[in-house]
Amino acid sequence: MTARVRLTVNGHPVDVPVGASVAAAVAHVTMRFRRSVNDAPRAPLCGMGVCFECRVQVDGIAHVRACMTPASEGMQVVTDA
Ligand code: FES
Repeated sequence: MTARVRLTVNGHPVDVPVGASVAAAVAHVTMRFRRSVNDAPRAPLCGMGVCFECRVQVDGIAHVRACMTPASEGMQVVTDA
């Protein structure tokens, strides 16, 4: 059995395998990660830390790239979508 971690995304509990990214965890709840300056919904594009379209707030820290951040137990993730 694969070990899992539990975190919350916008207050919803999510279980993902150890080693999964925050982006994967967010995708379990919503595909909207943030909104652009024109209020358009944005989501991960590159998946490798270049585009910054996947930015979320993690444990109170803003602008964390979800695709580059491993999910961890108890983490609190907030999107602005
Ligand atoms: S998806 Fe491009 S930086 Fe995360």
